[in-house]
Amino acid sequence: MGPRRVFSGIQPTGDFHVGSYVGALRNWVALQDQFDETIYCVVDLHAMTVPYDPADLRARRHESARMLLAVGVDPDRSLLYYQSEVPQHVELAWILGTLAGLGQLERMTQFKEKADRAKQNLGIFAYPVLQAADILVHKAHAVPVGDDQSQHLELTRDLAHRFNSRFGEEFPLPETITPEIGSRIMSLTDPTAKMSKSDPSPRSRILLKDGPDEISKKVKAAVTDTGSDVVYDWEAKPGVSNLLELFSVFTGRPIPELVDEYSVGGYGVFKGAVADAIVEGLAPVREAYDALDDAEVTEVMARGAGTARDRAETSMKTVRERVGIV
Ligand code: AMP
Ligand code: TRP
Repeated sequence: MGPRRVFSGIQPTGDFHVGSYVGALRNWVALQDQFDETIYCVVDLHAMTVPYDPADLRARRHESARMLLAVGVDPDRSLLYYQSEVPQHVELAWILGTLAGLGQLERMTQFKEKADRAKQNLGIFAYPVLQAADILVHKAHAVPVGDDQSQHLELTRDLAHRFNSRFGEEFPLPETITPEIGSRIMSLTDPTAKMSKSDPSPRSRILLKDGPDEISKKVKAAVTDTGSDVVYDWEAKPGVSNLLELFSVFTGRPIPELVDEYSVGGYGVFKGAVADAIVEGLAPVREAYDALDDAEVTEVMARGAGTARDRAETSMKTVRERVGIV
C-alpha cells in the first residue's frame, strides 16, 4: 500500500464558524497525525459560483488561509494552497464532467438549494464535479467534511468508479470522514436549520473570530426548548441537544456525563458553562490568528501552490494518456 492521503477544501465565502470548525476543520488538524499526507485547499473557484465582489474575494481568500493556519493546519506537515493556482483541478473537472449524468447532478441538494437564489448557472451545476476533481487529482483516500457534503462525496466515488471502469484503474474511491459528535451543528436561532455562513442572522452562528463577550451573548440568546431540563433528545429538545454537542466537543467530555451534571439547575447555568467552554476552546485560535503575519500567510500559500501543481501535473499525465489526449 502506498502513502495514505487526505484531501479537503473550504470556500472562502465568509467568516468561519464553529459549525465548520467542529464538523470539518478539527478533523483536518487531527488527521495530520493519522495519515501520511494531508492536503488542504481554499477553494476560491467554488466561491465564484454565487454573486461576489472581486476585492472581497481577494480579501477573504487570504483571511481564510490565515484562519486555517490559526486553527492548526501545519504547513510543515500539510500542503495548503488556493485552488485557482492549480489549473489541473479545472482540467480534470472537464474530463469528469463528460462522465457525469445530468440527472444525478440535478439531484444534488446543494444545487437545488442554491438554484433559485442565484438563478441557475453552469458553475453551480458543475460545482460538485469540480469538487470531485479537487479530491481525485490528488488520488485522496479520505475526505474530512461535515455531514452536508456526503452527497457530493458519493458523486465523487461514482465518478471515480466510472472513470476506472472506462479508462483503467486510476483513482481510489475516497471515504468520507465525519466526526461522531458535531457533524451537523445547528443554528443558534433556529435549531432545525444548519449553522451556516449564509444565514442572514449573525446571531445564528459563533465565529472563530468572536471574542468572549460575543460568544457568551450568542450562547445565552440561543433558542432553547420549553421546560428547563437539560436532556439530549434531538426530537424533543433540538436547541439543548445542539448546545450539548458543542459543550461535549469543546470539553472533550461525554454527553451523558454533562447531562448528569447539568440536569438540574436550569438553562441559565447550563448555557453559562457552554459559553465558557467555547470561549476557552477558541482562545488559542484567536490568539494564533492575531499573531500571524500577512507576508507569512502569502509565502505559505505560494509555496503550497508550487508543490500542489507538481503533484497534480504528475496525476494528469497518466489521466491524459488514459483518456486519449496525449
Ligand atoms: P462551509 O462552512 O459551508 O464552507 O463548509 C466548510 C466545511 O464545514 C464543510 O466540510 C462542511 O461540511 C462543514 N460544515 C459547514 N457547516 C457545518 C455545520 N453547521 N455543522 C457541521 N459541519 C459543517
Ligand atoms: N463543497 C464543499 C463545501 O461546501 C467545499 C469543497 C470544495 C470541498 N471542494 C472540496 C470539500 C473537496 C472537500 C473536498 O464545504
